Amino acid sequence: METFKHIIDTIQATQNITYEQLDYVLTHIDEEKAEYLYQKARQVSEPIFHKAVYLRGLIEFTNICKNDCYYCGIRCSNSNAERYRLTKEQILSCCEIGAKLGFKTFVLQGGEDPYYTDDKICDIVRSIKNAYPDCAVTLSIGEKSYESYKKFYDAGADRYLLRHETANEEHYAQLHPANLSGAHRKQCLRDLKAIGFQIGCGIMVGTPGQTIRHIYEDFAFMKELQPHMIGIGPFIPHKDTPFRNEPMGSVPLTIHLLALLRLVFPKALLPATTALGTADPLGREKGILAGANVMMPNLSPVNVREKYMLYDGKICTGDEAAECHRCMELRVQKIGYHVEDSRGDHPDFVL
Ligand code: 5AD
Ligand code: FES
Repeated sequence: METFKHIIDTIQATQNITYEQLDYVLTHIDEEKAEYLYQKARQVSEPIFHKAVYLRGLIEFTNICKNDCYYCGIRCSNSNAERYRLTKEQILSCCEIGAKLGFKTFVLQGGEDPYYTDDKICDIVRSIKNAYPDCAVTLSIGEKSYESYKKFYDAGADRYLLRHETANEEHYAQLHPANLSGAHRKQCLRDLKAIGFQIGCGIMVGTPGQTIRHIYEDFAFMKELQPHMIGIGPFIPHKDTPFRNEPMGSVPLTIHLLALLRLVFPKALLPATTALGTADPLGREKGILAGANVMMPNLSPVNVREKYMLYDGKICTGDEAAECHRCMELRVQKIGYHVEDSRGDHPDFVL
C-alpha cells in the first residue's frame, strides 16, 4: 500500500505518469488502493470545479458514415443500421428544447456524412449561434481538412471533439480499415487546436489488442497535445461489427484511468460517458466520484435515438430530453454534486 500511495502522490505532484508508474498502478490496484486513487482525484478537482458537473446537450444529427471502423455500429458496411439525417429545422428545434432546459452547450455529433457539406455545417452553426448567442457549439463530425475546420471556426463553432481512439499507430490499424490512419487523426487534432478550438480527444478502454503500453502512449500523446477535454469510455461490442465477439472493456479500468487523467490533467473536462453508463448502471456516478466533471444528456429526437447505436445496449434511447436532463440532475445530486448550467469552458479558456 505504501508504494502504491507513493506512486499516486508522485503522479499528482508531477502531473505526469511514466510507463512504470502506470503499469504498477494498473497491475496492483485493489478496492482499497482504488479508493485512495479516487480520493486523490476528487481532491484535485474540488478546488477547481467545486463539485460542479457541466451538462452538454448532445444532438446526434446523422448516423450516415462513410467510414468503416471495426468497432462502430454505424460503420458504412452495416446494412442493418436504419439511416437518418436531421434537417436544420429539426436540429434547431432540438436546441430550442435544450435551451429551455438550461443547456449552454450543444454538441452536434454525427457520422462522416458527405451530405453535410462545409457550407451546410457552417449554416447550421451560424443559425444556432444566432438564436443562442450565449451558448457554445461543439462539433463532433470527424476528420476534415484544415480549411474546413477553419470555416467551421469562423462560422462560430467553439469546440471540437475528435477522439484519437489510440495513440499507437499499429493499434490504430487494428481498429480501422487501411484508408484511415492514426497519424492523420492526430494531425486533425493539432490543426483544430492551432485554429483556436477548445478540443477534446480520447480513447475507448479495452478495445481489442489494447495494452498498458498503448495506454501509456495515450497519456504521452495527450501531455503533448494538451487537450481541453478527454473523453473515455469502455469499448462495448456491437452485434453488426467485426468486433461482435470481442469482450467489453473493463468498467473499473475505465474509472481508474479517469482518476489518473484527473491527476495528470487537473483542469481537464472529463465526461462520464454514455458508454460508461451503459456498461454499468452506476458507471457515470462512479466516474464523477473518480474525477469526471461533464455529462452529455441526449437531445436527439426520440424517434432517431435507437438508430444512433454505436454499440449494443446504449442507454437513454427511450427518454425525452427533459427526462434525461432530470435523470442526470438527480443522479448527480444523489452523490453530492450539482449540475451547472454555465457554458462550462475549460478553466484556462477566455472568451
Ligand atoms: N464502444 C464504445 N465506444 C464506441 N465508440 C464508437 N464505437 C464504440 C463502441 N463499440 C466511440 C468512439 C467514437 C465515439 C463517438 O464513440 O470512441 O469516437
Ligand atoms: Fe438519460 Fe438517465 S441520463 S435517462
